[in-house]
Amino acid sequence: MGKILVTSALPYANGDIHIGHLVEYVFTDIYVRFLRLTGQDVIYVCASDAHGAPIEINASKRGVTPQQLVNEFHERHFNDFTRFEVSFDEFYSTDSPENKKHSEIIYLRAKDRNHISERDVEQFYCDSCKRFLPDRYIKGICPKCGASDQYGDVCESCGAIYRPTELSDARCSLCGAPPALRTSKHLFFRLEDFSEFLRDWTSSQGRLQDEVRVFVNTWIDQGLRDWDISRDGPYFGFKIPGEVEKYFYVWLDAPIGYIAATEHFCSGKNDRTVDEYWLDHDSDVEIHHFIGKDIAYFHTLFWPAMLKAADYRLPSAVHVHGFLTIDSRKMSKSRGTFITARKFADNIHPWYLRYYYATKLNDSIDDVDLNIEEFVNRTNAELVNNITNLISRSIGFLNKRLDSRLGRLPDNSGDFQAQALDLMTEVFKDYSNLKISAATRKILSISDMANNYVQQNEPWSSVKSDPEKARDDLTLAINCIKLITIALKPILPSYCARVEEILETGSFKWEDAKFDLEGKTIGRFDKLIGRLEPGAFQSMVDAASDESDRSSKIVQNPLTPLKDEITIEDFAKVDLRTGLVVSASVVEGSDKLLKLEVDLGMETRTIFAGIRESYNPEELQGKTLIIVANLKPRKMRFGVSSGMALAAIGTNGKAVVLGPISEVGKGAIVR
Ligand code: 2FM
Ligand code: ZN
Repeated sequence: MGKILVTSALPYANGDIHIGHLVEYVFTDIYVRFLRLTGQDVIYVCASDAHGAPIEINASKRGVTPQQLVNEFHERHFNDFTRFEVSFDEFYSTDSPENKKHSEIIYLRAKDRNHISERDVEQFYCDSCKRFLPDRYIKGICPKCGASDQYGDVCESCGAIYRPTELSDARCSLCGAPPALRTSKHLFFRLEDFSEFLRDWTSSQGRLQDEVRVFVNTWIDQGLRDWDISRDGPYFGFKIPGEVEKYFYVWLDAPIGYIAATEHFCSGKNDRTVDEYWLDHDSDVEIHHFIGKDIAYFHTLFWPAMLKAADYRLPSAVHVHGFLTIDSRKMSKSRGTFITARKFADNIHPWYLRYYYATKLNDSIDDVDLNIEEFVNRTNAELVNNITNLISRSIGFLNKRLDSRLGRLPDNSGDFQAQALDLMTEVFKDYSNLKISAATRKILSISDMANNYVQQNEPWSSVKSDPEKARDDLTLAINCIKLITIALKPILPSYCARVEEILETGSFKWEDAKFDLEGKTIGRFDKLIGRLEPGAFQSMVDAASDESDRSSKIVQNPLTPLKDEITIEDFAKVDLRTGLVVSASVVEGSDKLLKLEVDLGMETRTIFAGIRESYNPEELQGKTLIIVANLKPRKMRFGVSSGMALAAIGTNGKAVVLGPISEVGKGAIVR
């Protein structure tokens, strides 16, 4: 049995994990846990996708370094995954020395073999931000339908796809300035060189789902275009060897992160090396990628071509899944259905979501719909009323009435046992074929069989006249519980660990799936999981939309009489500048003030602002505010305040500090 490497897509370290992401991580985790349960040597690796323009821009907006931002999200993501019991063997980062090394090797080998070409590219450049603008950072009027405020690559109003240069009235979305075209040299990976190889590779049995192969082949038929793998600085990424101020495009080094994570996992271990996973062509290690359909092009064309170009090993299979919809619609912030993993776990036990997703997952690329009503009804009916109820009533009864001691399997239960074991064989096949949903149906059938058996044999009646008969009947039911526990372990690992504790059997493997628990004393039933309130999911959604609505619910200030008129000259005396809050802290002894260190470009000032009741210091760090820069310094009890931060005062008396609505940098003149 060879080794197996399984990966999930690397999440960008630039935003929270949401329940849409979790479809993939739960799916992959179920498969990996199934493989472990059956004794396979499998490792599950993942990493933060740390590079790219959005991370660099987001970090600079927040006044932190990209590394700081990435570290923060890396930790948040890891915590979220842990709460949902996603069991990576390695959760690494693409911003790592191993990743740099492999990115350079792969690029240089491709270059040596003439698969890299260069040519000039004309692209929008913002003079005030001093950067080339990725398509998503350009906004303008859609050339097709005339909708305003559309991105540089696609119109969200009419769906048209275009080049950013086709927009009318194009603007830099960071600062609002109109960008100019500039030429710069770019490096391209010649994907076309690999057309024949890719056609073969993608057609190989078991590599791709049939429906995926069909659209990948259409892409190949349409002709593969060179792939732009370089970006100009400022960019957060690896410098391209042999070039000046050019960086690898994030999508070049992202999948190489799978290799880096493998290497990091193998380092210091003597039973495995990164080479046997990724380099040694004699090895029989299988590599399985799990991805969403939006990144199929990268994983079925660019990625295998890059590996091939550099003579690395290739993935055995790429498993593609669909997106999460909620009540058949895209997740949406305004509808409150954009739910982060953290928010979910704070409100509803993650077991319900893992179970529900399992009932939906299969090997197709159709979207996975979370129907709110069904979520509650199904988890209650199946996980709580059917499975958990079987466990609680069988074991509870044995605890209470029969000294927790199992008897013998009833003599006439041979057919019953054979039928349950056949279902287990089917469950095994379903897991192997990624038909998780089908597996859950069969697990439920075993639970139904056991529930019906108990119902028909009424141990609560027979216990009075023939307690040993009652004990034997419950022994059959508890052996079913054992099978169900084994079969459910990939889906609900910690739930099943609790059942194993109650049964006092130790941790099951798949090979333990037999009817063989007899005569032993088991532990006491302990509550596992209760019914979900009918409105549980909906109240979380409502709470989430309240949060996003909060800004629109602020009431207007009642009219306050205006001050005396001033002239423009009067106003011009006030020197307003933008200032970046480099640090903010509470002031010992004051419950009104925060102490801000504000960078005005030419100097950093200390400003005491009366906003303690409205903000925690960390909310202000990295924010750009508008500062009265020529206000006479004022000596206060806690020190000298050199300037004032502008704020609007709501009816509740709370201050909302003011800043530019898009990026302008520090020290900008405000008038
Ligand atoms: O689409 C995304 O979220 C990417 N961060 C996925 C990268 S997967 C792999 F190629 F690194
Ligand atoms: Zn700009």
